[in-house]
Amino acid sequence: MYSHKKIYFTKMLDKLNDLRNKDEIFILAIETSCDETSAAVVKNGRFVLSNKVASQIELHKIYGGVVPEVASRKHVETINPLIDQALLESKLTFEQLDGIAVTYGPGLVGALLVGVSTAKALAYALSLPLIGVNHIEGHISANYIAYPELSPPFLCLVVSGGHTLIVWVKGYCDYQILGQTRDDAAGEAYDKVARVLGLGYPGGAALDLAAKNGKKTEIRFPRAYIDDDNFDFSFSGLKTSVVNYVNQLNQKGLYVDVENIAYNFQKAVVDVLKVKTIKALQKVGTDKLALSGGVAANSAWRSEMSIEAQRLGFKLYIPPIELCTDNAAMIASAAYYNLLAGNISDLSLNAIPQNTLLTL
Ligand code: KG4
Ligand code: ZN
Repeated sequence: MYSHKKIYFTKMLDKLNDLRNKDEIFILAIETSCDETSAAVVKNGRFVLSNKVASQIELHKIYGGVVPEVASRKHVETINPLIDQALLESKLTFEQLDGIAVTYGPGLVGALLVGVSTAKALAYALSLPLIGVNHIEGHISANYIAYPELSPPFLCLVVSGGHTLIVWVKGYCDYQILGQTRDDAAGEAYDKVARVLGLGYPGGAALDLAAKNGKKTEIRFPRAYIDDDNFDFSFSGLKTSVVNYVNQLNQKGLYVDVENIAYNFQKAVVDVLKVKTIKALQKVGTDKLALSGGVAANSAWRSEMSIEAQRLGFKLYIPPIELCTDNAAMIASAAYYNLLAGNISDLSLNAIPQNTLLTL
C-alpha cells in the first residue's frame, strides 16, 4: 500500500471508536451494480433521509437485456448529479456524513467500478471511512429499513434478476447461505419467458399480470430439485422448457395462450421457491421469514407466502417494492452494521463481479 493510503486507513481505524459512541450515524451509499444508478443517505442504518434511483431500463429495452458497456457509461454520467440530489434531499452537507458506502459486488464489473471509484474518491477527499458492501447483503438489509423492529436471526429469500438464494441471517453481518441457484436466477427466467411471450423487457411484472387470468389448462413445466434434500435451485431447464413449448406452438401455427403459459410458468417457479423455503424454515427453526429482491414484487410469490405464514404461524417481512429492487438505501443499511462491526475497507477496494460465497 502506498504511504498516503496507509495514513488514510490508519486514521479511519482510529475514527471507528469515536463513531461507535455517536448517537446518530449518517451514511451516504452508492449502488451501481447493474442498470440502476442510486445514491442514498440513511441514518443509523434504518431511517432513510433520501434514496435516489435513476433507472436505465429505457436505455436497454431495445436490446432486450442489459448491455454492460452502455450501463457503465450511463452510470458515469449519472452518479455525481445523483449524489448531489441525494445529499440535498437529506438536508445534510458532506461534512455531516460519517461514512461512504458502496456496492463492490456481485454485479457487472464495469458498472461496479464506477461506484467503487466514486466512493473511494469521496471517502479519501472527505476523510471518511469507506465501507464496501456485498450487494446481496444489501438486499437482505432492505428489511431493516422496512421493519425497524426486525433483528436477526431470521431466514431471508433473495430472489431477483441476478440472484436466488436462501440465506440464514444469524446476526448482523453474519450469514450462512443454505442454497442458491446453480444456473439462472428466478428473475432471469421470468425475463426470458416474458420476452418469448412478447411481454417486453424486463418482463417480470408484465408476466405476473398476464398470469392473473391464466388459470385454464395445466401445462406441467419442470420443477427442478423440488424433492431433493438440498436448498439449491435451477431455473434454466424450466426456462428452456417454456421457450421450446412456445416455439413448437409457433412452428405448428397453433394459438399461443400467453396468459395460460404465464400462469403455469409462474406456478412452477413459486412451487419450488415455496417448498424450499418451508423446508429451510423448519431446518433452522425460526419463525421469521424475510423476502427481498425484485421478484419479491411478484403477487403470486407474496400471496403464497402470506398463506403459508398464516397456516404455519411464522412472521413474514416483505419490503415495499422500491426497497426490493436495486437501491442505495439498502446498501447504507448494510454498511451501518458493518461499520459498527469494524468492517471498513481500505483504498485498495476493488469490484468483485462474481457471486461468491466468500464475499458474503
Ligand atoms: O432486484 P432487481 O431490481 O435487480 C437485480 O438485482 O437483479 O430485480 C429485477 C428482477 C427482474 O428480473 C424483473 O423481471 C423481476 O425482478 N421482477 C418481477 C416482478 N417485478 C420485477 N418478477 C416477477 N414478478 C414481478 N411482479
Ligand atoms: Zn439486486
